[in-house]
Amino acid sequence: MKKILKYKFKNITSNIIIESNYISKYLNNLSKKNTKIFCIVDLKVKYVVKNIINKKNFEFIFLNSNENIKNINSYYKICEKLLSKNIDRNSIIIVIGGGTIGDLGGFIASTILRGIDFILIPTTLLSQVDSSIGGKNGINSVYGKNLIGTFNHPKEVIIDTNVLKTLPLREIKSGYAEILKHSLIKDRKFFEWLEKNYIKLFNLDDKVLRTAIEKSILIKLWFVKKDIYEKLIDDNSRAMLNFGHTFGHSLETYYKYNKRINHGEAISIGMIIEGYISNKLGFLTNKNFDKILNHFKNAKLRTTDKNINNKAVLNIILKDKKNLNGKFNIILLKNIGKSFFARNLNFNKIKNIVEKI
Ligand SMILES: NC(=O)c1ccc[n+]([C@@H]2O[C@H](COP(=O)([O-])OP(=O)(O)OC[C@H]3O[C@@H](n4cnc5c(N)ncnc54)[C@H](O)[C@@H]3O)[C@@H](O)[C@H]2O)c1
Ligand SMILES: [Zn+2]
Repeated sequence: MKKILKYKFKNITSNIIIESNYISKYLNNLSKKNTKIFCIVDLKVKYVVKNIINKKNFEFIFLNSNENIKNINSYYKICEKLLSKNIDRNSIIIVIGGGTIGDLGGFIASTILRGIDFILIPTTLLSQVDSSIGGKNGINSVYGKNLIGTFNHPKEVIIDTNVLKTLPLREIKSGYAEILKHSLIKDRKFFEWLEKNYIKLFNLDDKVLRTAIEKSILIKLWFVKKDIYEKLIDDNSRAMLNFGHTFGHSLETYYKYNKRINHGEAISIGMIIEGYISNKLGFLTNKNFDKILNHFKNAKLRTTDKNINNKAVLNIILKDKKNLNGKFNIILLKNIGKSFFARNLNFNKIKNIVEKI
């Protein structure tokens, strides 16, 4: 059954629709309208638009999508292409694909002609539970990930679980890592539910998938609503969603976003390292840390990397955008389901902990 989650921020309303086998029907309805629709589509999911490819109000741009498309050159090329096809302020952009094309397409829609309406159709588990929610769009800079972008919400997010059938298990696990992150920062019961249901989720059991996706989105929205522009520095801060990402991002940067590690794998390792730091600093009990580690191992998620205590990885963290005035800030756990903002930590102390891993 179709599930609609509505979210309102100030004067913005967005609908998140969770349904299986829905994309074709949804796009077909749009093809009956007069609006000009520009679809930016990941080539891997070209099949989802096959029935509307000849509709006269639709134009398509197909991309081979990965982290490397989140740059200023792709941004500029696509904007020029859209302008050459006479996009106007009443047009709608629909972005169909994972988090990389979603971040890029959302940024294009937010800036072209000073911003036009857009719809996201996320096709990876990661983009369904995380990147399509919360209004962050953007591209990378040589100075780091997601440093150029906007806060701007899509009119609708269409989450179709059926499209996950073509997604490799490695990518399902990448999305699962973000689902686990949501449980670890906010909801112990959800974590324990995942401990029982992860195999069904990996097997794409529709009921389990939909429950996990919805629960995950609601946790993300809880933080986003409290702190849309990520300004808070307390435990309600949107920054809680960065748990696992301090070490995760530095590993991704270290590996230059190549195929050896994907986002979910990097943050899986990051969550274990940051959980371990929480434990060694006395915030998280041994029992809770072991419970987390065991689940990651059972689910065969990455828990470490041979370069995790490499100097270069630690140096990237020192330059991290969260470390204002040379102090080290990081999201840690007090419990499973309870995260907090650990501020002004001594970096050497953290370094010593990590170097002993
Ligand atoms: N905006 C946010 O709030 C936010 C939050 C989390 C992550 N992100 C960003 O999301 C990005 C990662 O997203 P991702 O993991 O979706 O990566 P991705 O877009 O690179 O997709 C992963 C791979 O799956 C392929 N793919 C997509 N859908 C498919 C399908 N249904 N079947 C088969 N293959 C398919 C893609 O072509 C790609 O090869 C990162 O850039 C990260 O920074 C953004
Ligand atoms: Zn992430």
